[in-house]
Amino acid sequence: MWDWETLENECANCSKCELHKSRMNVVFERGNRNARLMFIGEAPGATEDRVGKAFVGKAGKLLDLALAGLGIGEDEIYICNILKCRPPNNVNPTREQAEMCMGYLKKQIELVSPKAIVLLGGVALKFLLDSESGITRARGSWTEYNDIPVMPAYHPAALLRDGTKRIDMWRDIKQAWTRIKDI
Ligand code: URA
Repeated sequence: MWDWETLENECANCSKCELHKSRMNVVFERGNRNARLMFIGEAPGATEDRVGKAFVGKAGKLLDLALAGLGIGEDEIYICNILKCRPPNNVNPTREQAEMCMGYLKKQIELVSPKAIVLLGGVALKFLLDSESGITRARGSWTEYNDIPVMPAYHPAALLRDGTKRIDMWRDIKQAWTRIKDI
């Protein structure tokens, strides 16, 4: 039977793929394990690798700003990634890496048992839902994972490159929050 301690220990000692050789830290999560809203990103960046927490770099700060603007507290969300270790130079996760790491994510979802999931970016969409649809097309419309409502949204790093996407990410998170906040 899985519990948080077993899962976190297993991740901390993982050497299933080559990323374990270059990581400084396994980046397991951030936030509240009892949250109703779960966010799933792509993979840790340099700051996350150094600190050992998800979304604490530039993209994370943007996400935090959006959450604060919507009145969603840090203790009201749980956030993690498809990959738990940083790919050097932040290259996109390969299918092989994602598949090897996916068991951890699936157990995190089971343990958190969120009322809704927001997928941040195309990589999360591709690997969690095995979707070939691009994020621009998929964002803003509900889909599901194991009966959990899922809202795909832009990754906050995309907003750093194109500020016009800000309003869409904001809207999509708001939709997810509105759906579950009173459940
Ligand atoms: N980008 C991600 O997808 N995840 C992080 O934890 C940080 C940046």
